Amino acid sequence: MNIPVKIAGIGFNVPEAVITNDDLTKIIDTSDEWIRTRTGIERRHVLSGNETAVEMGIKAAEKALAKSKIDVEEIDLIIAAASVETHAYPSSACEIQAAIGAINAACFDITAACSGLIYGMGIARAFIKSNSAKTVLIVATDAVSRCLDWTDRTTCVLFGDGAGAMVLTVSDDGQDDILAIDLKAEGNLGDFIKMPIPGKNCPLVEPNEEEKMFVKMDGKEVYKYVVTKLPGYIEECVAKSGLKMNEIDYLVPHQANLRIIEALEKRLDFAPSHVISNIQEYANTSAASIPIALVEAIEKGTIKLPCSAILTGFGAGMTVGTTVVKLREGIA
Ligand code: ACO
Repeated sequence: MNIPVKIAGIGFNVPEAVITNDDLTKIIDTSDEWIRTRTGIERRHVLSGNETAVEMGIKAAEKALAKSKIDVEEIDLIIAAASVETHAYPSSACEIQAAIGAINAACFDITAACSGLIYGMGIARAFIKSNSAKTVLIVATDAVSRCLDWTDRTTCVLFGDGAGAMVLTVSDDGQDDILAIDLKAEGNLGDFIKMPIPGKNCPLVEPNEEEKMFVKMDGKEVYKYVVTKLPGYIEECVAKSGLKMNEIDYLVPHQANLRIIEALEKRLDFAPSHVISNIQEYANTSAASIPIALVEAIEKGTIKLPCSAILTGFGAGMTVGTTVVKLREGIA
């Protein structure tokens, strides 16, 4: 039996504090002009005080659930996708479960960096199609600002914080909203983007030195990899969807660099107005960037529902995730 999957609701949340490119010139040798022309970024939202990625995730989840009109107790599974967990344990998914009262949900976290939402969708879809879950909440939330070396201008200008959430459930009208999904990984390219978690040997074994937990990235290699490989991966996924590229309404790519987004737009021959970009406002919010871009574009009317769309992400690993979806009215 082929169980059809419905995208029932999506939502996002970002913290209030905003840092502009000009603000950054107070702490590093950079300029608004350099950041805008190389990346498209103008400002980013960042956590302050005791705010956490989990709190952003809870707010995004509540919005997605409200749109889905599904009772919280109907959620069978929560998958939290983050590049960096708020705690090693308990999992972010468990913390979100407790906060929203999803008492019947199993919970776990996944790490697929900026491909986290699409990896989460792939897992959720498999659970639903195998009749192992009826309703799954995916929460993609990342607080990269807490893991940046704010003296390293090659990384700290690129990221912001945010969360997005999506509710998937069994479709009641037979329409399968996920037409195709394709997950890839190239672990041999793991050195392109790395964030070591400091751990210390027992002091009886050897003296310990303080280690730092910062994002390190070879931006040029990531850039080359993405513009070379991603268009072909997207074409492969579209071929599996049963649609042709020119039948798909919108392209919603991971927001890492405006130049990458424009390269995809040209290569895949999308009209600029149908390629979603909000990197100007939020920078790269890692796992959260696709749902934030998607929901904001729906709220602003840039994406008109119902429609079809490609969601595509790439990130540390390297991981890549692409899906071709149908988006119904009222989901955001
Ligand atoms: N301000 C001013 N100058 C800077 C800055 C800055 N913030 N950062 C670097 N520079 C300088 C460099 O020092 C270098 O100077 P030099 O020529 O004197 O040595 C010059 O600018 C050019 O630096 P490049 O690294 O060559 O700049 P490039 O044009 O490659 O742009 C960038 C860098 C924006 C990082 C680009 O490579 C990029 O966007 N790559 C993709 C990143 C990406 O997609 N990451 C995904 C991460 S997702 C995840 O999983 C976490």
